[in-house]
Amino acid sequence: MQYFYSDRVTELVSKCLQAQDMAYCPYSRFPVGAAILTADGSIITGCNVENASYGLTVCAERTAIQRAVAEGHRQFTAIAVTCDIKDRFVGPCGACRQVLMEFGSDWTVYLTKPDGTYKETTLSKLLPLAFSPEHLAKN
Ligand code: THU
Repeated sequence: MQYFYSDRVTELVSKCLQAQDMAYCPYSRFPVGAAILTADGSIITGCNVENASYGLTVCAERTAIQRAVAEGHRQFTAIAVTCDIKDRFVGPCGACRQVLMEFGSDWTVYLTKPDGTYKETTLSKLLPLAFSPEHLAKN
């Protein structure tokens, strides 16, 4: 069967919307969902997980990437992220951008609204002049 990337994007977007339903956010009441497409075609999801000690909250994007790495993935193609904001496209927080950058700069990022419409961008556009693992490489 032929592989259509556009079908995967549709699936990725729908998986991030589903993942948002799992968010544990009793303090902010701001559920976020994320879904990562790995280089081998798997989709790994995440949601925000808050904590009574507020600073220990983990964002949806980082929940997803930590889960993906723990399941053996290191190469990623795209991430879709969604929240409840209907009237504009919302990007990942700065901390999550840096954590994604650990695994390369050429991710496609789909900023997804609740109705499933999305804006496509890239991690390098979202985090220009980033600090990354290559800066630690020994000469
Ligand atoms: N949040 C995310 O999950 N991802 C982001 O990129 C921004 C913020 C979560 C953290 C917290 O649970 C809630 O949204 C409000 O900040």
